[in-house]
Order: sequence, then structure tokens, then C-alpha cells
Amino acid sequence: MTELDHRLDRLLEGRKEKNRFRSLKEYDITSNSGLVDFSSNDYLSLTSSSSLRRNYLGKLASTPSIFGSTGSRLLSGCTPSHSSLEKRFEKFFNSPSALLFNSGWDANVSFFATVPQPNDWVIYDELVHASVHSGLRASRTAVERRLAFNHNDPKHLEKLLKRMQNTASSSNDSSTIFVALESLYSMDGDFSPLPALLDVLEKYVPRKRLCVILDEAHSTGVYGDKGRGITHALGEEGGFDEGDTRRRGKGRVDVRLMTFGKAVGCSGAVLLCSPTVRSFLINFARPLIFSTALPHSTITALECVWDTLQSEEGDQRRQSLMSVARYVHTLLDDLLSRTPPGILHLPPDPMIPFLTSPNLAPKPGSPILGLLTPNPHALSAFLLDKGFIVRPVVPPTVPPGAERVRICLRAGMDKRVIEELVAALAEWVDIKLAEDRSVRAKL
Ligand SMILES: Cc1ncc(COP(=O)(O)O)c(C=O)c1O
Repeated sequence: MTELDHRLDRLLEGRKEKNRFRSLKEYDITSNSGLVDFSSNDYLSLTSSSSLRRNYLGKLASTPSIFGSTGSRLLSGCTPSHSSLEKRFEKFFNSPSALLFNSGWDANVSFFATVPQPNDWVIYDELVHASVHSGLRASRTAVERRLAFNHNDPKHLEKLLKRMQNTASSSNDSSTIFVALESLYSMDGDFSPLPALLDVLEKYVPRKRLCVILDEAHSTGVYGDKGRGITHALGEEGGFDEGDTRRRGKGRVDVRLMTFGKAVGCSGAVLLCSPTVRSFLINFARPLIFSTALPHSTITALECVWDTLQSEEGDQRRQSLMSVARYVHTLLDDLLSRTPPGILHLPPDPMIPFLTSPNLAPKPGSPILGLLTPNPHALSAFLLDKGFIVRPVVPPTVPPGAERVRICLRAGMDKRVIEELVAALAEWVDIKLAEDRSVRAKL
């Protein structure tokens, strides 16, 4: 072992002592493995759609280039197929412009590292994704001008804005206030009370000083008409110039991130923004400038996925996912109502009623359940033993005390599998209750 290995090893030991050690675990999730996958973000089960597979293989056969894009977007990687997909997204999502990225991570890092300027402010929900934080670390915005508000709490956001209003430096300057939100949070599986947050922002910040960025990583393809997302469903698409005839609705979300690694079943992302922000990113975003653009095979796959999302099959898959989500919630609500929260509980989810739109199901179900437990590793191992892949999530991914197992639902799941999972959870609860009773008996 080199000296470096020794030092790194000591740091890894520290992680192990804190129960935070990460390692790669390989699971066989093919149908004959006997394991049921409750951990992937393949919410619409598109990765196993036979019609999508047929469409993709057929298109690949007639596509002139299927391999690498051979360069960054600024060099040889700006092909007609890349531009044409961006045009499709502009139209589909009703955005003034669209810019492809190799991942949602790259898009968030690019935006937050480059767009906010030294005197601007960045306000973010305390649970926004790590990529926003990584972008901000590279940003020139002063550290004291980056402020977190309590998760999904419009009242706390209001308090923060009032405090900012009272400081001369924020009320007198012409700086921009960036606000980073997610539509559906990846760890708690809860929706943002978006209209309430936007109303608060409208009350305290002049429109021309505001830039709201909504990360729709977990809602892309799933919610709204044909999967256009939460912003579109609420008529909040922004980023248009005053005179732009495509502008509709209130348009209070200026920038949207739609990612392709989750319900879309591929990889990559598109940032929906104004043409000026797009041009700024092309000029300054290092992950875009210095990295090879998405390969042709992915561009073709994305065209095929969007054919599916816009078809009847897409509608059916979204409906199936919502009914799976509602069924799980019904069974779990029953189990959790008789389970002490110290053993297992769900974070509160009072926000769904905020999201009302004719373009959304009356009670949109979430495909993510963050089941809080002090023993996530043990519960995950217990469930794996029963044939369910459910992954533990521990700090620093979530705050200390918010350890959990994360259960992800998919459109293709049948009722029997869900009942079996909830039965296994009930068995775990019974074991823990029996352990508690025996500890108490010994006292
Ligand atoms: C909310 C959110 N934003 C961004 C990302 C990054 O997206 P990608 O996986 O495409 O890099 C993720 C991925 O986990 C996410 O959950």
C-alpha cells in the first residue's frame, strides 16, 4: 500500500465507523432472478417496453450515425439531430429555447456555477439536489448571499425575503434573486407547493429581479399532459420575452430542468430557458464546452421515447403508475397507522392539495416513498432476503436522523407484488415490536 492508499484508507475507515460507507452492489433484475426492483427510477417501466425497443431498433437501422457524436457541442458534436431534438423539446414543453446536456448533474452544475453573478442572491429549498450545491461551490456569488429555506415551507421563505428586504444591500441593488426548487423531491417523494412559493416570491420580489429554476428530474414524463411536467400543467412556463406570442399563462418559472435518466429511461437532460441564458451557457458552462456531446444512439433513443410518451401507451403508463402509487399509499397508510413512528414512518405530505390543475390527476400520486427508519441497512437486508431490492439512504445523502429506505414504484408493477412488499414491511414491524417488548420486559 502506498502512503496515499494508507491515508485514504484511514478516511474510509472513518466513514465505516459512522455507518456511511458506500460500495457498489450489483443486482440482477432480469425477470428470472426472482428479485423485484423497488429501487430504480424507471417510473414508467419504459426500459422494458417492447414497443419502444422495436421502434428504437428500427430507427437505429435507418439512422446514418449511431455511435459517438465525436466532439463537444461547440465542435463536431452539434449535429442536425441534436438541434432537431432541441427544437422538439422547445415545442413540446412550451419553452422559448432548449439546451441539451449530458446529464442533469451537468446541467445544474453548469447553471449554478455560471449564471448567478457576484452580487446576485441564490435562495434554495434546503433539500435541493447535490448538483445545485456543487454548482454553487464553483459560483462567484458571495457565500453570504446563498440562503436556504426550510423544506417546502412558504412561510419560512416569506420570512427570509422579509429579512432580505430589510437589509439595504438587497433592497436597493438591481441584483437578481435566483430561487432553486424541485417539483418532486427525490428522497422524501413529496411535491413542492409550487403555486404557494411562487405567490410568496411575487409578493416580495419584483418580477424583473427574479429567476426561478425548477428541477423536474422526477416529474419529467410522469405528470401533466403527455408528461410535460408540473410547470406546464400549472401554466407556469416562463423565460419568454414580453412580446413573444408563444407566451401563455403566468409564466413564473423561468428555467426548467428535465432529465432523461429517470422516467425517460435513458440518460442526459435538457435545460428549458430563455435564448439569452442558453447563449450564456454555451459561452461559459464548462461541462458543456469541454465534454463530448450526447451520442447519436442516445439522441435516437430520446426521439423514440418521446414518440412513446406522446402516444396512447404513454398515457396508459402514466395512469398505471398513478394507480400503483395510490394502492401502495392505501396499504401503507393502514400499516403505518398502527406502527410506532420510531420503527417506521413517512415524512408528512400535506402539499398535494396545492397542486390543482385540469392537467393533473385529482390527487397525483408520488412514485417515491421515503420510509424513515433508524435501521435502514437492516431493513434493506431483510427485504432483500424476501426478494425485494429496496436501498437504504443514509447521511450525508439525507440529514442525520432522516435515515430511510427509499421505495420507488413503476407503472409495470402488479398488485400482488405490492401486497407482498407491504406484507414484508408488516413482518418487519412485528419483529421490531417484539424486540421492543422483550427489551422493556428486561428493564
Ligand atoms: C433532483 C435531481 N436533479 C438532478 C439529478 C441529476 O440528474 P442525472 O442523473 O441526469 O445526472 C438528479 C439525480 O439523481 C436528481 O434527483
